[in-house]
Amino acid sequence: MDGSNLIPPRSVTRFAESDRYRAEIHGLVVGGAHTYSKGDDQFPALSPAAIARGEGGRVWDLDGNDYVDCGLGLGAVSLGHAFRPVIDAVHAAIEQGAAFQRPAAVERELARELLAMMPGMERVKFAKNGSNVTTAAVKLARAFTGRDLVAFPGNHPFYSFDDWFIGATKVANGVPDEFRALSRTYRSTDPESLAAAFRDNPGRIACVITEPEDFIPNPPEVIREVERITKANGAVFILDEMVSGFRAGLPGSYTGLGLSPDLATWGKAIGNGFSFCALTGRADIMDLGGIRGNEHPRVFLLSSTHGGEAHTLAAARAVLATYREQDVLGHHRRLTARVTEGWRQVVHDRRLEGAITVHASPWRVILACADRAGVASAPLRTLLLQEMIGRGVLCQGYFVPCFAHTDDEIETVISAFDAAAAVYALALDHGTEDFLVGEAARPVFRKWNGCRQVCPASPCPHEMGCRQHP
Ligand SMILES: Cc1ncc(COP(=O)(O)O)c(C=O)c1O
Repeated sequence: MDGSNLIPPRSVTRFAESDRYRAEIHGLVVGGAHTYSKGDDQFPALSPAAIARGEGGRVWDLDGNDYVDCGLGLGAVSLGHAFRPVIDAVHAAIEQGAAFQRPAAVERELARELLAMMPGMERVKFAKNGSNVTTAAVKLARAFTGRDLVAFPGNHPFYSFDDWFIGATKVANGVPDEFRALSRTYRSTDPESLAAAFRDNPGRIACVITEPEDFIPNPPEVIREVERITKANGAVFILDEMVSGFRAGLPGSYTGLGLSPDLATWGKAIGNGFSFCALTGRADIMDLGGIRGNEHPRVFLLSSTHGGEAHTLAAARAVLATYREQDVLGHHRRLTARVTEGWRQVVHDRRLEGAITVHASPWRVILACADRAGVASAPLRTLLLQEMIGRGVLCQGYFVPCFAHTDDEIETVISAFDAAAAVYALALDHGTEDFLVGEAARPVFRKWNGCRQVCPASPCPHEMGCRQHP
């Protein structure tokens, strides 16, 4: 279908303040952002450079444009931007002071509440960043087992900004080879590849750290087999519930999947955007970081000035209370199902099967963009985002819900996708050049910032994530 006459015009066209921001920010902030996946190279040129404010399921940019928010602070905002009960709890806590010379009393309350929600978890340690808790879990596992290697799925996007993970990516500059040699990767869809890693490194793998779910959901037996292999080989099984926690289930995926992780890591949705993360696990492993008992040498675990920041912990308590008192996950699931159904219908109606694939689980929806031959295409993906943003939906290729999202907002997410898909269909036939403004988005994990030459080969041998070979 040639939808060219039927495509609704873009409603968001003003990016003057955003363009000024983009022009200045890289001379101030390295990378222009404090998370690479929020960077300018991850978005189309016609997009907000920064967000001025958010409320519920919407955000406003520097030019006053407002958007339905599909990404919600990298999945962190589970209830809604500026969600009133959380904000009230934070205000009340701030009135009482933020940091003390001894622990804030709220630490005990939150620890009790958290562990009560997490079967099998006997101890907790708080932190401000997910990377810190995953790294702490790896350290504990090494101390507990006396082994040096760490294994994780190489096809998963992210576990930490620390060397044990980044050393295994294309952006390993600055990570000594000796550190890189301590990481092993396997394929999350193929437990046998993990078994092979154990066979190839007898007695050396301290832990397997993995997310419980893939973008394209695996049968539950796959992750159960990963757990079985890990434990059968005497390694520590660490489940990273940073993304799935308080979204896939309560508290996360592990109970529903029938898993018994030795350690688990949490963040994002648990704080509704506040910087609260947690490491939980078996007492015998966690207590290596304790200050009592003399059976083993101590592990210097998480320790930081702001680890127990009182109002952040109050925010987390308010989030937990909201989940206990209201059917947050029921709302999430209903909206996720509607987006899945709506986006799939659009793909069908616009005859885009094979070019746009809607990967869905009950708690998130992810878009894969390809050309007519089914080859992944960064320019087409960027075009899709550009056209959705132009119709008031801030989308980075996936949808996660928040409790404050309304049905009307979800219909906007679907209608914007429909208009964007119509443009996508035209670009499939005529190329993206006439439709995409600016450069295509680039992979976060690329060795170089940009291609300084045109690479005739595909994939690009220079690992530059260039426009020709993203
Ligand atoms: C699965 C997973 N683990 C760990 C992290 C690191 O969390 P943070 O960005 O809070 O350091 C992320 C971040 O996106 C993540 O997706």
